[in-house]
Amino acid sequence: MNELLDNKVYLNAEYLPLSEAKVSVLDRGFLFGDGVYEMIPSYAGRLFRLQDHLDRLQTSLEQIRLEFSCDLETWQGIINPLLDPEKNQAIYLQITRGIAPLRDHPFPENPNPTVFVMCSEIKPFPGLETGVKALTMEDSRWEMCHVKATTLLANVLLKQEAKEQGCAEAILTKNGYVTEGATSNLFTLIKGKIVTPEKTSEILPGITRKVILELARNNSMPVSEARISVDELQSASEIWISSSTREIIPVVELDSKQVGDGKPGPVWQKMNQLFQQYKSSV
Ligand code: PDD
Repeated sequence: MNELLDNKVYLNAEYLPLSEAKVSVLDRGFLFGDGVYEMIPSYAGRLFRLQDHLDRLQTSLEQIRLEFSCDLETWQGIINPLLDPEKNQAIYLQITRGIAPLRDHPFPENPNPTVFVMCSEIKPFPGLETGVKALTMEDSRWEMCHVKATTLLANVLLKQEAKEQGCAEAILTKNGYVTEGATSNLFTLIKGKIVTPEKTSEILPGITRKVILELARNNSMPVSEARISVDELQSASEIWISSSTREIIPVVELDSKQVGDGKPGPVWQKMNQLFQQYKSSV
C-alpha cells in the first residue's frame, strides 16, 4: 500500500504522487457520484484498444450531459508518462462534473470537470487456469448500465455478497434473463454456439466483449448476441466472464453446481489462446 502512494498520478493537468492528489469535498464526484470513468489495459506500455475506450467514454459523457472533449493524441500524451513498459497496467481514468459552490442536485452553470488518471499493475488472474465460482443474483442496478458511471454502489454490494459466498463474480439476472456480471460481461456456450447478451442499456458494452466477438467471427466460431434466459444459463456447457482487468475467465461452478464437466472448456481454451495472440500482436 505504501509504495502505491508514491505512484505518479494525473490530476487536473498536474502529475503528482498519489498520496498528494487531493480533490475538494465539494466535488460532485464525491457528493453525488456525478462522473464517468474508463479502465484501459496497457500491455508492456502499449494501450490496448484506446480508441474503443475513448469512444465509450465519449458516449458516457454525452449520456450524463457533461461537455468535455479531448482527442486520442491528447489522452495518449496525458497517460504516457504514467506507463511502465516493463509492466501490464490498468489505467483508471475518471471525469467528474467538478466542484460546485454548494450541494445542489441540478448541474452547476459552466462546470469545470475534474480529470483524474492513475495506474495499477495487472497481475495474472489466479483463477485463469482453474476457473472460478459464480452465483446468480437479481440485478439491482439502475436503467443506464451502458454508461460507465462512477456511481457503483449496487455493483459494490453485489460483488461483496459474491465474495462473502466464496465466488469471484455475481452474474446478474433481470426478469428471468441474464444481463452481465457485477464487474464483467458474460459469455455462454449453448448448443455449441457462443452466446452473449445483446447490447442494450442493461449492460456495459465491454471492450473485451467486443474483441471476443471479433475474434470469434474472424475465426469462424459460431457466435450470436441474444437474450439468454436463466434456464439457458444454468444448462450452458461453458460460461465465461470478460473484463479489461481479468480478460476472459472461465466459470466452472454456478450456484454451487458444476458447469459442464467442472473444468475450463475447450471453446474457452481456444478463445483465450486467440485473445492472448491478439493481445501480443497489437
Ligand atoms: N469493469 N460490465 C461491467 C458492469 C463492468 O464493470 C465491466 C468492467 C465490464 C467489462 O468491460 P471491459 O471489457 O470494457 O472492461 C462489463 C471494469 C474493469 C471496472 O469497473 O473495474
